[in-house]
Amino acid sequence: MKHLISCDQIKKEDLLSLLTLTDKIKNNPVFYTETLKNKVIATLFYEPSTRTRLSFSAAAVRLGASLINTENANENSSATKGETLEDTIRIVQGYADAIILRHPDDEAAQRAVQVATIPIINAGSGGKEHPSQGLLDLYTINTYKKRLDNLKIAIIGDLKYGRTIHSLLKLLTLFDGIEIHALSVKELELPPLFENLLKKRNAKYTKHTTLNTLPKDVDIIYQTRIQKERLQNEGIQASAASFIIDKKQFDTFSADTYLMHPLPRIEEMNSDIDNDPRAIFFSQAHNGMYVRMAVLYQCLCENK
Ligand code: NCD
Repeated sequence: MKHLISCDQIKKEDLLSLLTLTDKIKNNPVFYTETLKNKVIATLFYEPSTRTRLSFSAAAVRLGASLINTENANENSSATKGETLEDTIRIVQGYADAIILRHPDDEAAQRAVQVATIPIINAGSGGKEHPSQGLLDLYTINTYKKRLDNLKIAIIGDLKYGRTIHSLLKLLTLFDGIEIHALSVKELELPPLFENLLKKRNAKYTKHTTLNTLPKDVDIIYQTRIQKERLQNEGIQASAASFIIDKKQFDTFSADTYLMHPLPRIEEMNSDIDNDPRAIFFSQAHNGMYVRMAVLYQCLCENK
């Protein structure tokens, strides 16, 4: 892997080898501490982030790299003066060995890679993609379910603008026997592009309008927040009322149903479920650091 731009570029065997590498790193992080010695990684974030920025930063540091960053590139970089993303990439690549980029434009990572001479890692581009999140989600699912085939997954919340959902579906459907149960309000349904993808890859797909009709034996409930910041741009209003999960609701599902969320969680999830061992979103976020170590390793060391 030279760049990580979209889950479209990830083949099943690449994904599996990344999951294996992540396991190796997680089991023996000390072995990898000098992997990126003398490398400089730039984080260029034009949108807010806690987990993605800090876990990528921690991943780089734990591999021995140094970091340069603009924490809020929209306000603190030359973007405020009108500099194009392309020019910023041209400049930063003179200072760094890889750029981790988060940007509100759906096509930002694609645009960056057109002018890039160093690896570009997409840390979230608009509502379209969040490939490293997709990878950490698959890693987490595999860790808990011990398989990636024959999974029944409920995706809930903002299926239209939730980029984590989009990346997740692209990766999940590389596997056989996938069954997707989608729950959202009408305004935030899965875009036709993804409905077609599910069809093309022979995944079963069922739409729901309430939590009550979801099969009680789903393997994973993948909850997401409403992407208010993206909805505002489209003039859409939506409420999470029909899909709020609390302990009582969660207890109606099987003992093998795990609850994931890319976080941050807002009103769609009640914190009374936090002590349930099936609530794995904090572990999911923690896995993100190891998966991102593996991504950096592959982009900077293997560079295929
Ligand atoms: C997600 C994102 O930025 O798309 N957060 C994350 O990276 N874990 C989800 C979200 O913001 O809702």
